[in-house]
Amino acid sequence: MLASRSLVSTWLLAALVAVGDCEIDRKSIVRQFNLRLNQSHRYSPVQIGNGNFAFGADVSGLQTFLPHNTLSSWGWHNSSLPTTPNQADISDFTGQDWWTHGRLVNYNQPNPAEKDISQWLIANPHRINLGRIGLWFGGENITEDELTNRTQILDLWEGTVSSSFSWNGKSVVVKTIASPNTDTIAVTLGSELLKNEGFGVFFDFPYASGKNKFDAPFVGLFNATSNHTTRLISRKNSATITHTLDATTYDAEIRWNGDGQVKRTNNGTHRYVLAPKSCETFAFTATFAPKVRKSPESFQAVEKSAKDWWKKYWSTGAFVSLPSATNSSAKELQRRIVLTQYLLAVNGAGKDPAQESGLVNNGWYGKYHCEMIFWHIAHWTVWNKWNLYDRSVGVYDRFLPSSYDRAKHQGYQGARIGKMQDDNPSGWSAPGEINSLLIWQQPHPMWFAEMEYRKSPTQKTLQKWDKVLVGVADFMANYAWYNQSTKVYDLGPPMYPVSENTNPNQTINPSFELAYWRFGLDVAAKWKERQHKVVPTSWRTVKDNLAPFPIQDNAYVLYEGVKDMWTSPEIASDHPGFLGLYGWLPPDPRLNLTVFQNTVEKVYASWDLANLYGWDFPLMAMAAARLGDGEQAVRWLLDANNQVNELGMPEGGNRVATPYFPASAGMMLAVGMMAGGWDGLPGPVFPENWNVEVEGFQNSM
Ligand SMILES: *[C@@H]1O[C@H](CO)[C@@H](O)[C@H](O)[C@H]1NC(C)=O
Ligand SMILES: *[C@@H]1O[C@H](CO)[C@@H](O)[C@H](O)[C@H]1NC(C)=O
Ligand SMILES: *[C@@H]1O[C@H](CO)[C@@H](O)[C@H](O)[C@H]1NC(C)=O
Ligand SMILES: *[C@@H]1O[C@H](CO)[C@@H](O)[C@H](O)[C@H]1NC(C)=O
Ligand SMILES: *[C@@H]1O[C@H](CO)[C@@H](O)[C@H](O)[C@H]1NC(C)=O
Ligand SMILES: *[C@@H]1O[C@H](CO)[C@@H](O)[C@H](O)[C@H]1NC(C)=O
Ligand SMILES: *[C@@H]1O[C@H](CO)[C@@H](O)[C@H](O)[C@H]1NC(C)=O
Ligand SMILES: *[C@@H]1O[C@H](CO)[C@@H](O)[C@H](O)[C@H]1NC(C)=O
Ligand SMILES: *[C@@H]1O[C@H](CO)[C@@H](O)[C@H](O)[C@H]1NC(C)=O
Ligand SMILES: *[C@@H]1O[C@H](CO)[C@@H](O)[C@H](O)[C@H]1NC(C)=O
Ligand SMILES: *[C@@H]1O[C@H](CO)[C@@H](O)[C@H](O)[C@H]1NC(C)=O
Repeated sequence: MLASRSLVSTWLLAALVAVGDCEIDRKSIVRQFNLRLNQSHRYSPVQIGNGNFAFGADVSGLQTFLPHNTLSSWGWHNSSLPTTPNQADISDFTGQDWWTHGRLVNYNQPNPAEKDISQWLIANPHRINLGRIGLWFGGENITEDELTNRTQILDLWEGTVSSSFSWNGKSVVVKTIASPNTDTIAVTLGSELLKNEGFGVFFDFPYASGKNKFDAPFVGLFNATSNHTTRLISRKNSATITHTLDATTYDAEIRWNGDGQVKRTNNGTHRYVLAPKSCETFAFTATFAPKVRKSPESFQAVEKSAKDWWKKYWSTGAFVSLPSATNSSAKELQRRIVLTQYLLAVNGAGKDPAQESGLVNNGWYGKYHCEMIFWHIAHWTVWNKWNLYDRSVGVYDRFLPSSYDRAKHQGYQGARIGKMQDDNPSGWSAPGEINSLLIWQQPHPMWFAEMEYRKSPTQKTLQKWDKVLVGVADFMANYAWYNQSTKVYDLGPPMYPVSENTNPNQTINPSFELAYWRFGLDVAAKWKERQHKVVPTSWRTVKDNLAPFPIQDNAYVLYEGVKDMWTSPEIASDHPGFLGLYGWLPPDPRLNLTVFQNTVEKVYASWDLANLYGWDFPLMAMAAARLGDGEQAVRWLLDANNQVNELGMPEGGNRVATPYFPASAGMMLAVGMMAGGWDGLPGPVFPENWNVEVEGFQNSM
């Protein structure tokens, strides 16, 4: 009796621990939004992946009809350097000098006299497409239309894509899964077509395009076959294809069960075929790595670890349940939240911050932007998914030495964070006028550090961020310029505010940046106090004497002295960054809520919403919700100009910038803030008549 009772209670305890505080039936909500498709989407693949690696599939479950991409954190390539005299080396790049408060400062900007090396630095290294894997129909050229009864299901709960169709009356079933542990896809094929060696898979390898800023929807060149090489080592149940593109080399390691052999289809191409011998089901894995060292995982191993990983992903951290059954807006928002969570684990959880298009295709040559780190990963903190946040947040520490160099080179103290970066170990930032003059990326580490401290107010957290905060705060304090006539510290000129659409030589004291500067220096000061260390005087002096927020007609404006802002089509159509004063940022001591409310109303009345995209709608939702208006917040998230397609991908402002994941991650942050609430405004903040259940959120500042 006793023994069995204790067994029962042990079992109960284990069950409770496993489920945590979950009350919401997460599994059935997640599965309600499983993708069910019957055709390929040119711009939006069905993806499987692990944050550092993703494979985009068409309706076949592989890349049979559309060459969707296989992208990674580590696959990059340099084109050869220009041969132009005096521009043939990186050290030949000198940038441009601009007058900055009475002195010439050297900025990392393209120089017309150094056009070629400037452009090389912008475009290199670029991210590469690791390869294409598709179904092989015995050498016949099949189109998607020839397949009948096409069905494809992405099971979000287990991260598995099941595709099926019939060809010539014979059915084919394909299952595709990505490993959470290595950059591997695992595939099973089931079909009677496998009986006679006329059916299998092909592998193809493209060269890097390198010249396209937006390499979308398909990355790389399959026709530049003479510019790169592939080498095959074939074994009984495995093969290694080594792909070399100039200085870049990596392996694709293929492993299968049963009989079969990988063969090159045609000399001069980089296409290989694996056609199994007489079987009815066939399983293989393909692992990509700079150098495959150990035997790749089997299909079964990948299937099990993916299932476990995804189940844990959905079961831990926060969750929100909206009244989908009774309200169609709630259902649409729930759909977006669930699909976005899947996509951000695949595309926005790598060792480096994500590029805007994640691992779907390439924008800005595959590079990431430091000001966008906030939009890509801030939501993980509010949703209590710290392990995914931690994968890339170390970027500040990793590149601290080059941030110090950047500041020093410009005659500033401290560490100035770069802008458009790649996986280059030196932490260089691509040349650009906006790239070199944007400043709102600087206080991000303070926001992250403070959120982390609220979660874990420990010595360890203080130490983790101390060096970065010192470096960045020293720069921020030193960058602010003491104006003798007004007796305050100015930001800029020259500078670009969040919206990137003003004359940098005239831009001074933008509202959002003033608030963020003060917030950042405040956190840095608290950080020292918490460690019982001395707060540098300059941090306090600058924080307490920053220029006042610019106000015109009782509303906050973009920057001090801006003309006709509300009627300027140029300005009133870009990011309304100043709405971040309340909601995104905790209230500045000088924030006047009446004035803020006026500002919000003016944006609603005069902004060209049709031109907004990306994180603008989440930003407006945060401001509305922080003012207590959950109804309006939801309206912004579901605004007609803020579309999320059938696959859960946000449509960018134009096709080339699709998908635009800052919109997805921004929505998750807005929803997380609305669910978890803020200091002084407990959540959830949703429409009043909605019955919303939330669990596991971290509240916001
Ligand atoms: C494919 O799916 C779409 C959208 O769900 C549906 O409207 C259409 O009828 C389907 N087509 C076929 C052939 O099943
Ligand atoms: C590209 O070139 C830079 C500068 O030489 C180097 O630091 C970087 O490692 C190279 N990257 C690749 C992928 O070859
Ligand atoms: C800003 O001033 C610099 C000189 O300091 C000049 O080279 C540059 O062209 C100016 N930029 C604009 C947009 O006026
Ligand atoms: C295969 O068919 C497609 C669509 O009809 C066509 O564009 C392509 O050129 C064909 N490829 C070959 C190798 O015949
Ligand atoms: C169509 O596919 C479904 C799902 O794989 C299967 O159950 C059904 O039998 C197929 N129908 C035909 C006519 O092949
Ligand atoms: C290769 O394909 C690209 C487009 O994908 C095209 O612009 C280019 O002309 C092609 N090059 C050759 C050598 O066929
Ligand atoms: C491929 O190599 C040839 C010969 O060196 C060169 O002219 C061509 O530009 C290269 N193609 C690409 C896409 O780099
Ligand atoms: C490819 O070319 C090599 C060397 O010319 C030759 O030995 C080999 O048989 C060829 N392979 C095929 C599949 O044509
Ligand atoms: C859904 O909720 C929103 C927000 O409260 C409301 O405006 C809308 O009328 C509701 N729709 C339905 C169909 O009940
Ligand atoms: C000092 O501030 C005033 C008001 O913002 C501004 O017009 C002026 O340009 C600033 N002085 C200098 C030297 O930047
Ligand atoms: C806030 O601004 C309003 C409108 O300009 C003004 O009437 C009010 O006095 C201000 N409040 C504070 C605390 O400054």
